[in-house]
Amino acid sequence: MIELGCGPGFYSSRLAQRYPEISVIGVDRSPSQLSWAREKRNALRLNNCQFQSDNVLELSHGDDSFDVLIASRLFTVLPNRRRAVAEMYRVLRPGGLAIHVLPTHTWRFWTTLTLIPAGFQYIFAGPGAIAAWPSAATKQSKSLWYKLKRFLGRHGEHGNMLSEHWLFHPIRWRRTFRRDGFEIIEERPVGIFHTGNMLLGKRLTIDRRKRLGQILGSACRLYVLRSVER
Ligand SMILES: C[S@@+](CC[C@H](N)C(=O)[O-])C[C@H]1O[C@@H](n2cnc3c(N)ncnc32)[C@H](O)[C@@H]1O
Repeated sequence: MIELGCGPGFYSSRLAQRYPEISVIGVDRSPSQLSWAREKRNALRLNNCQFQSDNVLELSHGDDSFDVLIASRLFTVLPNRRRAVAEMYRVLRPGGLAIHVLPTHTWRFWTTLTLIPAGFQYIFAGPGAIAAWPSAATKQSKSLWYKLKRFLGRHGEHGNMLSEHWLFHPIRWRRTFRRDGFEIIEERPVGIFHTGNMLLGKRLTIDRRKRLGQILGSACRLYVLRSVER
């Protein structure tokens, strides 16, 4: 199995731990995310899980190398999604599974609606708290300009704060996957509520976030796809 844009390797590590008989590779282009992922993998003493530096738009792996691929919150941050899809198709064996976790339109709605209270929260929390947000790892993402853009602008690489309500909608994702040559075999909400503003942070426990997810909508949705025979 391969996880594309694995970030801190949450899925790769958990799956490798739960299924010791499978072999997992997590790839990302961010050195800091990879070192975080490797730390976690080492702490769990996993020997069926590797993390590698790779570009999802030009993967170093051969054709038909994987039975399953996972991409969590990757499509929204890619400038060239079609190129990534071509690479997914290439490295996945015919009939292999592609599992995507993607933000929803309700996530976009609540993230937009909570911008103002979140702004006050950051102002009153002081510059230290502002510097820590968003909790990203690159030098660029730590700059004040980047934070302002993230705070007031779009989340992903396309559209804007308003059009993302459609771009993240399940109807649009389904159309996109089918156009890309994938059959949707399962789809469901992940079930946890959160916004992109870290509002209330750890004060809202996962249990409460699950309950809120049922009322206010899940922040992410899971799509299990099968690549249609070429
Ligand atoms: C929004 S994060 C998601 C991280 C993780 N999958 C998760 O859900 O927690 C997107 C990740 O994709 C990685 N990424 C973005 N473009 C990439 C590319 N072209 N090649 C490899 N990784 C990329 C980023 O470094 C980042 O770790």
